[in-house]
Amino acid sequence: MPGYITTFSYQAATCHAPQFAPRDFRRFRVTPATGAMGAEVEGVDLAHASDEAIRELEQALHDHLALMIRDQDLTPADQAAFARRLGAPVSWPYAKPMDGHPEITELIQEPGDKYAFGASWHSDSCNFERPPKYTMLYAVECPPVGGDTGFANQYLAWETLDETLKRRLEGVRCVNSSELAYGTASLEEDVQDHTATPIVYREEQFNEVLHPVCRTHPVTGRKALYTTSAFTARFEGETQEESLPLLRKLWAHAATPEFTCRLRWREGSLAIWDNRCCMHYAHSDYPGHRRHMRRIVIEGERPV
Ligand code: SIN
Repeated sequence: MPGYITTFSYQAATCHAPQFAPRDFRRFRVTPATGAMGAEVEGVDLAHASDEAIRELEQALHDHLALMIRDQDLTPADQAAFARRLGAPVSWPYAKPMDGHPEITELIQEPGDKYAFGASWHSDSCNFERPPKYTMLYAVECPPVGGDTGFANQYLAWETLDETLKRRLEGVRCVNSSELAYGTASLEEDVQDHTATPIVYREEQFNEVLHPVCRTHPVTGRKALYTTSAFTARFEGETQEESLPLLRKLWAHAATPEFTCRLRWREGSLAIWDNRCCMHYAHSDYPGHRRHMRRIVIEGERPV
């Protein structure tokens, strides 16, 4: 018998408890997506939502981490007004904003595009001092199939790390870099020439910021892994080469299938997610079709 080296291990059972006990909300219905996270919301009109509905939506977001809210008919002004009820929209400096709406970024994939905006696991704008707490996307036009957004629960990612590694990482900070996210892979000519939403990045926009590799959610009090290959350059006090072996292990773990869900788009759906406890991934599987989203990010707090 050959003495093989074991190359895989089985994932131990894990889940996010609220997925199995969704609250009975008064203002809409919630259907959980997977055992890990995510839910569909039906029965609420975001353009005319009551204060109670807004409070309940935020509670549902804290329970399920990402919501796909169905059957909306939102103008850009309606979407911005809804965003302001959840916090302060911030304009995003790395793409041209929508005319007349500095807080909205239009994410457009044309049928001939080779690359999709956001097609790698990340949490939004980790290079900001106060990265956005929420991101919302409204679907103006969708491919007939494909273009789902994937999500990964980073509470589960943290909690399922082995205890020795958790002790080693508690209190450790990482350098998150605009250059890594927007100045290297994104600016390669092939990427810029083959995407309808080009990144705008100039040298003077370079910044690096230190954030903890494990952050505590300010509302739920739970700890979440907070590092992604799109932004994290290295651990504080190490070079990128020294940091990459452990970072790569953390990034692979963070996207474990049992931590994920995949939400499917329909025109008129609005997704909103909490960047403080989940990562997301724009699936790039619809060449030959158009996808048009309107995005708003809402200011968060400094991660601790
Ligand atoms: C993003 O990464 O913000 C966009 C996600 C998507 O288009 O599905």
